Order: sequence, then C-alpha cells, then structure tokens
Amino acid sequence: MTKFQYFGLIFLYFVINLEASSAFKCDFQVTEEFFYDYYTCIITAESYEIKEVHLPENSDDDVSMISITLQSLGMTEAEFPFCQRFPDLKKVYISGITSVDENLFQQCSNLIEVGITSAYLEELPEKLFANNLGLKTLNITKSMLKTLPEGIFASNINLFTLIFDGNEIVDLPTNIFKSLTSLDKLSLRNNKIKQLNPVWFKDLEKLDDLFLSNNKISELPKNVFNNLRNLDTLRIDNNQLVTIHSDSFGSNRTLTIMEFDNNKINAIDEKTFDKLQVVLLSTMKNICIDDILIQDKTKLSRCFENYQPR
Ligand SMILES: *[C@@H]1O[C@H](CO)[C@@H](O)[C@H](O)[C@H]1NC(C)=O
Ligand SMILES: *[C@@H]1O[C@H](CO)[C@@H](O)[C@H](O)[C@H]1NC(C)=O
Repeated sequence: MTKFQYFGLIFLYFVINLEASSAFKCDFQVTEEFFYDYYTCIITAESYEIKEVHLPENSDDDVSMISITLQSLGMTEAEFPFCQRFPDLKKVYISGITSVDENLFQQCSNLIEVGITSAYLEELPEKLFANNLGLKTLNITKSMLKTLPEGIFASNINLFTLIFDGNEIVDLPTNIFKSLTSLDKLSLRNNKIKQLNPVWFKDLEKLDDLFLSNNKISELPKNVFNNLRNLDTLRIDNNQLVTIHSDSFGSNRTLTIMEFDNNKINAIDEKTFDKLQVVLLSTMKNICIDDILIQDKTKLSRCFENYQPR
C-alpha cells in the first residue's frame, strides 16, 4: 500500500465514522425523577451539530432516558435502533417524526416508557413493541394516527397506561386491547371515534380510568362496559350521546365518577343507578339535564321520564 492509499483509508474511516455517529450526538444530563437519577441523552438541534458531552464518570451503558426532537434536527424519520448504543434505555421521548422503523425499539429489553408527540405518523408498524415486554407506559399524542394494527400490543401484557389523545382515530381493530389485562388507564381523548366496540373493553378487568372525551360517540352499545370490574372514572364528555341505557354497564361497579358534559342526553334509564354507585355525575350542557350531581339523582327526573328501552 502506498502512503497515499494509506492516508486515504484513514480519511475514509473518519468520514464513515462521522456519518455513523452524527445521527446521535448527545447533550448528556442527569435528570432527577422521584429520587432516581436518569442519565439522559438530550438531542437538540444544537447538540446534533456540535457536541457530545459525556458526564465524566458515565458511559453510553448508563443512559436510561433519551429525549429527541427530530424536527428541529431536520430529520424526519426515526430509524436508529437506540438500544444498539444505549442498551439500558428505559424511557424514550420523541417528537416531530413522519415514520418509525419497525426495529426502532427491538433491542430495548428494559424499556418501560415511550412518549411520542407532534409526529405525522398515520400508522405504526405492528411489531414496533414486540420485544418490549416490560413496557408500562405508552403515550402517543397529536400524531395523526388513524387506527392501530391489530397485534401491536400482543406482547405488552404489562402495559399499565395507554394514551392516544389528539390523534385522528376513527376506529380500532376488534382485538386491539385483548392482551392488556393489567391496563389501569386508557385514554382516547380528542379523536374521531363514532362507535364503541364492546370487544375492545372485554378483557380490561383492571382498568381504573377510561377517557373517551371529545369524540363523536352517539350511543353506548349493550354490554359495552360490562367487564370493566375495576372501573372508577369514566369520561365521555363532549360526544353525541342521546340516551343512557343501564344495559351498557354491568353490576357491582366500582364506578364512582362519570362525566357526560356537553352531549345531547335527553333520556336516562333510572336502573343505571341501581347498578352503579356513582358519587359524582357531571352532566352539564345536555338536553334533559344541565348540572353536576353529587350523590343526588332528583334532578334527573325529566331524563328518567323520557326514557324508552331500546
Ligand atoms: C403524554 O404526552 C403529552 C405530550 O408530551 C404530555 O403533555 C402528557 O402530559 C403526557 N401524559 C402522560 C399521562 O404522561
Ligand atoms: C356482586 O356483589 C355481591 C356482594 O358483594 C357478590 O356476592 C356478587 O358475587 C357480586 N356479583 C358480581 C357479578 O360480581
């Protein structure tokens, strides 16, 4: 090898290396959260361009949280498999992407929380969370999602909190939440859901909070909430509900807070409250009722009189 070739090779090596690492330059910080220090890699426009500052005694292996705003980096796709470089990653927050690669979280066996916001996704790969058995919190907001692939949560039996607020969801596959027997909170606020499928909620026996505010729901199907044995709070405010039937609910409920503000409710089956021990019933701005009721059903008499069984 001539000297010229030799230096050429070294130069090439540096160029390739720069290319490979430039996608992830970190501005490392320690974030305190509940007395636990998260060693965080914050990727910002500035740090993308110029710096990678390691805290003296830490290495990539210590990074447990990564926060990344791809839009400001001029990048639109999240393809880099984070955990190839940060094997102990527990929390990932991403904003401003247009697609995610199916293998993005594949090597993240310790992942417990993913937050994606202000993205333009429309759809997610079905296997995106297939290897993240410990995933507890998934919060994908304002990301234009229209629906979700049927098997997307098939491996995530430990999911505790699931939030899809502010998307464009019209409908979801029938068995979408089938494996989620530990789920505590499900929030689908600010979407375009017209119809609830009773099968969605069939296996969510641990669910505490169900938030369906700001959709286009016009009726609660028979038995829709029957299996939600632990449900405590149900919010369906800002929808198109007209009638509340008692057969939408099972008996022996723990349900204590119900919000139906800003619907078109004109009739309520009185039997609903034989089954439920609702403490706070919020029914502002409806047709037969415009009030917040605390353990008092007397103001519902007009709604009860209007009721016709389905
Ligand atoms: C979900 O993410 C949004 C956007 O980052 C945030 O405002 C919201 O607080 C998060 N919700 C939860 C329960 O973490
Ligand atoms: C309802 O509660 C009663 C008394 O606590 C109990 O005996 C019964 O099994 C419960 N029924 C259901 C369907 O959970």
